[in-house]
Amino acid sequence: MYIKPLKIGNVETKNNIFLAPMAGVTDLAYRKICKDFGAGMMYTEMVSSKAISYGSKKTMTLCEIDEAEHPIGVQIFGSDPLTMAKTAEQLSETADIIDINMGCPANKIIKNGEGSALMKDLTLAEKIIKEVVKASKVPVTVKMRKGYDENNINAVELAKIAEQCGLPQITIHGRTREQGYTGKCDLNIIKKVKEAVNIIVIGNGDITTPEEAKNMFDYTGVDGIMIARGSMGNPWIFKNILTYLTDGTYTGPNFDEKIDLAIYHLKLLIENKGEYTAVREIRKNLFAYIKNMPGAAEMRNKISTITDSSELIKILNTMKGC
Ligand SMILES: Cc1cc2nc3c(=O)[nH]c(=O)nc-3n(C[C@H](O)[C@H](O)[C@H](O)COP(=O)(O)O)c2cc1C
Repeated sequence: MYIKPLKIGNVETKNNIFLAPMAGVTDLAYRKICKDFGAGMMYTEMVSSKAISYGSKKTMTLCEIDEAEHPIGVQIFGSDPLTMAKTAEQLSETADIIDINMGCPANKIIKNGEGSALMKDLTLAEKIIKEVVKASKVPVTVKMRKGYDENNINAVELAKIAEQCGLPQITIHGRTREQGYTGKCDLNIIKKVKEAVNIIVIGNGDITTPEEAKNMFDYTGVDGIMIARGSMGNPWIFKNILTYLTDGTYTGPNFDEKIDLAIYHLKLLIENKGEYTAVREIRKNLFAYIKNMPGAAEMRNKISTITDSSELIKILNTMKGC
């Protein structure tokens, strides 16, 4: 049986098909849509522990949670154990899980020793985990990569540290920091991590179809899977994986359904962030919704310049029936 709820500490997820944290993407509107399509657990995008500890209002809005979203994880990043702990204490007032980012490959994060840079310093990584666990009122988890680079493949070591620190769950993305998002996700390292620990392991990387989801389960034996890019423009992926792994079938979506959802997404974003921000922030999602549709390239150019939501909706509707 592939589909099942997971018990992460005292937190029970709806199922084991999770939406991954994505900076600049997994905001309230995005998460609402993915939850409606069946995502069993979701995370906010990563937030800076430093910024939270300085009281940044902008950063606090990134981890605002709607009542209907529970259970939900808030992901934090940083390199100072006490700042991370203080932030975890604060955010665990509202979040169901505090997830520590040990996977972000971005230069601006790495240069501060944060994100996947922590995979180069497992002593510090362990210290952070221990302090965050001490301070958090809710279960703590870690999201990691395969390692820093090909010469430092240490996900198994970090997974064992996480287990020893009492964490109930970890997520592993099967690429190194050096790879960024290039190359292929290495399922072998995910399998090795799963075999090395007795806590819940979530596999992540390159799942864009129900068949790929099944392969992740079959090949690695993970307890659950997490999807990031494969949900952009295609939140149906959650529903389709759930039905495929239950009765072997799935259908849709067609282009018209995608356009309808794109418009609904825009409207949700306007409700949450106002028209000015929404018509700009929706663009990356619209590009994903219209991908592979006839006339998509021309439409991309138009979408990039439109700043009025009614005009945007009108032009999206012209793509229907194609
Ligand atoms: C735009 C974007 C933003 C991301 N932001 C985060 C983040 O905030 N925290 C994190 O742990 N991973 C982040 N990731 C990595 C994803 O969660 C995931 O590990 C990675 O994309 C591999 O999964 P996928 O092949 O399903 O996309 C981000 C990825 C993308 C594409």
